[in-house]
Amino acid sequence: MGNCLDSSARVDATLSSHTSGASRVASKISNSSAHSSLTIPSCNGKYSTDGLTTPRSESEILSSPHVKPFSFTELKNATRNFRSDSLLGEGGFGYVFKGWIDECTLTAAKPGSGMVVAVKKLKREAFQGHKEWLTEVNYLGQLHHPNLVKLIGYCLEGDNRLLVYEFMPKGSLENHLFRRGPQPLPWATRIKVSIGAARGLSFLHDAEEQVIYRDFKASNILLDAEFNAKLSDFGLAKAGPTGDKTHVSTQVMGTHGYAAPEYVATGRLTAKSDVYSFGVVLLELLSGRRAVDKGKIGIEQNLVDWAKPYLSDKRKLFRIMDSKLEGQYPQKAAYTAATLAFQCLSSEPKARPRMAEVLATLEQIQDPKNSEKHSQLEHQTNLRTAHKSPLRHHRSPLHLTPSAFPLPAHHQSQTCTAR
Ligand SMILES: Nc1ncnc2c1ncn2[C@@H]1O[C@H](COP(=O)(O)OP(=O)(O)OP(=O)(O)O)[C@@H](O)[C@H]1O
Ligand SMILES: [Mg+2]
Repeated sequence: MGNCLDSSARVDATLSSHTSGASRVASKISNSSAHSSLTIPSCNGKYSTDGLTTPRSESEILSSPHVKPFSFTELKNATRNFRSDSLLGEGGFGYVFKGWIDECTLTAAKPGSGMVVAVKKLKREAFQGHKEWLTEVNYLGQLHHPNLVKLIGYCLEGDNRLLVYEFMPKGSLENHLFRRGPQPLPWATRIKVSIGAARGLSFLHDAEEQVIYRDFKASNILLDAEFNAKLSDFGLAKAGPTGDKTHVSTQVMGTHGYAAPEYVATGRLTAKSDVYSFGVVLLELLSGRRAVDKGKIGIEQNLVDWAKPYLSDKRKLFRIMDSKLEGQYPQKAAYTAATLAFQCLSSEPKARPRMAEVLATLEQIQDPKNSEKHSQLEHQTNLRTAHKSPLRHHRSPLHLTPSAFPLPAHHQSQTCTAR
């Protein structure tokens, strides 16, 4: 397992707060399409191709009717002056605090009253912070779906950049899978979470103007009180290829351990890069292990390298299953999920299933009797939503990928470990 970082790769030291070693990295790839100004979907009330491919200026993005501009003082009051006991978590982008706002006026409310929100405050030194911040406002100001976190508003005042999201009471999937806690996630919840996340990705990929998420990982899957999954952190999201193009050429950004090998090697991005990352998360759900774990030795540091040989062998699969499940899972379902993960992790992007197919398989695992009908309905609804109005007509969420870091371009390596 090599280290994919080349000399031009940058790693944000602030990311080292993660214990996983699955750090964000960024590097330039030749023909990088990173521009100083953003070219992202426009918000014209319809999810149309025209809208999504039209570059929007910063002021257009920030004047979206779907997100509310907050003053810094308002958010200071809403979070009790960003007090440490309001801290929900920390990522590469910055700190996330719990806050309270009035449900109707959206102004700061007395702590403990009104609506709970999560306020993300950009670290001033965060790498590429402003660009990602704006990308997040742009996408989450336009894309609305039950499996995408809602962006309520933002604050841009002097050097301060903040984002205000709906509060997700169960935090991130990463916390549940890898933190030591009294209650490991049961099998049925793992499948439920994977279905929610697959629905979110499927919605993005099947939108009339495709969106590639580019940062699919356990810490970006947030959970509501019933363990419904919602994707967060759209700072790296990118419009998919249009016309006859098969891919988008771009600066390689993402998180080591989750990014697809061909994308890391060439900078060519397709929706199948997200499918690979989905396979990694599915493997994390099955095994209870992190994508990259520097605390392990040899091949076990990289989950995909270690687990792949066991995925298509019914008799050996139990060896990689999470011991915290204590064998409490249906073997047939586990094997189907493992086979699905194996397909998603194919080194040949074309051999990976589409997210709609992934979703259908997971629904079948969850409910072998009804899934087919449901999946067809869901798919039709998604298509309809995508064609008619991908934009939410009520206020909603945003997300920020904490300083997205470019991954280095590299050769055929399936594993990229940042440090
Ligand atoms: N909307 C939210 N509701 C509740 N908790 C949240 C919300 N958004 C983030 N958090 C908490 O804050 C933590 C940090 O989130 P953040 O997105 O900043 O970093 P991350 O996803 O862990 O890492 P990265 O910087 O690589 O994205 C999350 O793990 C989660 O526990
Ligand atoms: Mg995140």
